[in-house]
Amino acid sequence: MKFNDYDVKLHKGGAIAWDASDAILTWLEANIKPGMKTLETGAGKTTMVFANCGASHQVITPSDSEIENIKNEAKRVGIDTSNVTFYNEFSQNILPKIAGHENLDVVLIDGGHGFPIPAVDWLYTAPMLKIGGKLLIDDVDLWTGKMLVDLMRGEPEWRLISIVRGRTAIFEKTAPFVAREWVDQPTVVRKSWIPQTTRKIVNGLAMLLTLDFKQAWKKLSHEVALSKEAKD
Ligand SMILES: C[S@@+](CC[C@H](N)C(=O)[O-])C[C@H]1O[C@@H](n2cnc3c(N)ncnc32)[C@H](O)[C@@H]1O
Repeated sequence: MKFNDYDVKLHKGGAIAWDASDAILTWLEANIKPGMKTLETGAGKTTMVFANCGASHQVITPSDSEIENIKNEAKRVGIDTSNVTFYNEFSQNILPKIAGHENLDVVLIDGGHGFPIPAVDWLYTAPMLKIGGKLLIDDVDLWTGKMLVDLMRGEPEWRLISIVRGRTAIFEKTAPFVAREWVDQPTVVRKSWIPQTTRKIVNGLAMLLTLDFKQAWKKLSHEVALSKEAKD
């Protein structure tokens, strides 16, 4: 059975279908194997695909009606959900409690899309993914998802496999997760240097204009020391 066989509206009490794209549902059907350990934030047709492929799956959604609709539809079309653990919670509340070992094969981040939820989901699920595991982030055309993709592209622990139809990023984890300080994150450094340099120049000029040379010299020495420290 394929995802097209259970074409129903699972969200907003059955009024809307916020489904992932057909390309991603197809990717899941091709790549999720029986017994894989998987997790997704947000729920819907993707949850049914994970279950139908035989994954040992964890799914997080604050909506009890989504869970009920998914269970009912799965029963109707004959998908076994006994290996699916449903968390009726906001991901930012439950993930810190269930975060554990590096043993997940696939993670899909498609829950809350407002800032900072995709980043929070990433912070807790990225360490749970095993090396070689795949991380899918949906709706990276939204700034909150794009920010995450931009950052991950500069980090050595992630290999971008593709961005499917400009909407869903697929990464492979190649090394253990590291939460770095900004000076060690190439994307943050690159995106910050113009505003940082501008601020320093403006502040320096303001001091010179008030003829506060002593303070300007002190500030300049401090900034030089800081830049040196950041480089080292
Ligand atoms: C775009 S839909 C997910 C669609 C699903 N992946 C599919 O293909 O059918 C977004 C989901 O995130 C859930 N959601 C919203 N805020 C959330 C949060 N803070 N934590 C977890 N899930 C959240 C919504 O209830 C909804 O299930």
